Amino acid sequence: MQDDVLGDGGATVTSRDAAFRDDPQRFYDAMRAHGPLWPDPAYGRSVVTGYEVAREALRHKSFGVDARRATEGSYARRIAGTGVFEGVGETAYEPPLVLLDDPAHRRIRLLMSKAFAAHTIDRERTRIERITAELLDDVARSAAADPHGAVDVVETFTSLLPTRVIAEMMGLDGAAPDDLRTWSEQVLWGYDPDRDASGQDRLREAYVSLGRCIRSTVAARRERPIDDLVSAMVLAQEDEDRLSDLEIASLCTQLMVAGNVTTSDLLSSGLDLLVRHPEQLAVLRAEPARMADAVEEMLRIDPPITETARIAYDDAAVGGCPVHAGDTLTVALAAANHDPARFAEPQRFDVCRPVEGHLAFGSGVHVCLGAPLARLEAQIGLGAFLDRFPALGPGRTPGVRRALPFFRGFAALPLRVV
Ligand code: HEM
Repeated sequence: MQDDVLGDGGATVTSRDAAFRDDPQRFYDAMRAHGPLWPDPAYGRSVVTGYEVAREALRHKSFGVDARRATEGSYARRIAGTGVFEGVGETAYEPPLVLLDDPAHRRIRLLMSKAFAAHTIDRERTRIERITAELLDDVARSAAADPHGAVDVVETFTSLLPTRVIAEMMGLDGAAPDDLRTWSEQVLWGYDPDRDASGQDRLREAYVSLGRCIRSTVAARRERPIDDLVSAMVLAQEDEDRLSDLEIASLCTQLMVAGNVTTSDLLSSGLDLLVRHPEQLAVLRAEPARMADAVEEMLRIDPPITETARIAYDDAAVGGCPVHAGDTLTVALAAANHDPARFAEPQRFDVCRPVEGHLAFGSGVHVCLGAPLARLEAQIGLGAFLDRFPALGPGRTPGVRRALPFFRGFAALPLRVV
């Protein structure tokens, strides 16, 4: 693979670019061929694409996630200009867990894990099954009204299931799922290093709207806790330590954003993979018990978060290459999952493949807190979809990929379901 597919780097190797959106692995392969670190001067960063080096970077003791410690003008600093560290008044916001280093990170993660512990997987199973069944009734109705028995599965199913699940878990019953999803996506546009003033305004509006909706729930649960996640956060305690209102509101925003777009994308990409690989769909129909492995293979081959970042705090080495204090490393999780040195024939979708160790949920101290929930939603949601629609197949028009930075999924995915 030639380096020239990479051009001058920058936005051409991000989801802003249609060619990259269609086939990011072509670009990642070219970066991997270059060596352990691919320098991208246009964006002031180096990209890690190999599996072992990605794991090393995610767990490196000299690396952290605080963009304020990155070199001026670097990729991490451009993204951090979202105001997540600067909000005041209605946009006051604690940095998300994923952008906190220890000891602050350890403290919040511990309290958060305690709150999550009450929401055991078995308890959530019933909720997810109920919401899935309700949504699939609507999908069937929409398909029956379509002359080709087709529906946009993003609009009717994949974008709705995770949003309803997390909103119900948190107790945000009053908020419309469509609004929650729109605000979540707007917050994620904050990770666009090239966002303009209007993007910044939309981001601020999303923080304000989501914040208002969440803060009123937090205040109500402080008064009178009930059996939901916000109440569990209000009550979570470690020694004398508790979460403040601002911390809870910020954490809820993160859960809404992190848990919603990602899991929607896993469901959409999973359905897309299955209809494009009918022989794998047939294997799964014949052996539904393979669903858990199939979801891991979907996470490996098309992970919803394609990239994350680490900042070097000291001069150090990764993959045997020197890095300097202040350098930004983009850790391409999607590339690591396609490293042929770790996964044989990485482009082949195989629901029978043993895929332990993929990096779709990250690795190290920041490993995804919601992974068990996301896995369960995908296993139940996709399993029920296949049961309900035996005629599932490609739609008459191709799916449309979303341009959101680092979050790979579909804006629309028309499929034939009946
Ligand atoms: C398929 C769905 C999901 C994917 C692919 C995913 C992926 C990830 C990844 C890659 C990270 C680590 C980022 C880094 O190290 O820089 C992460 C962290 C996190 N995720 Fe998820 N996630 C998903 C679903 C969820 C859900 C459902 C929730 C909660 C409801 C959630 C909550 C979090 C939180 C709170 C963190 C920060 C953990 C920390 O910094 O300690 N995620 N996720």
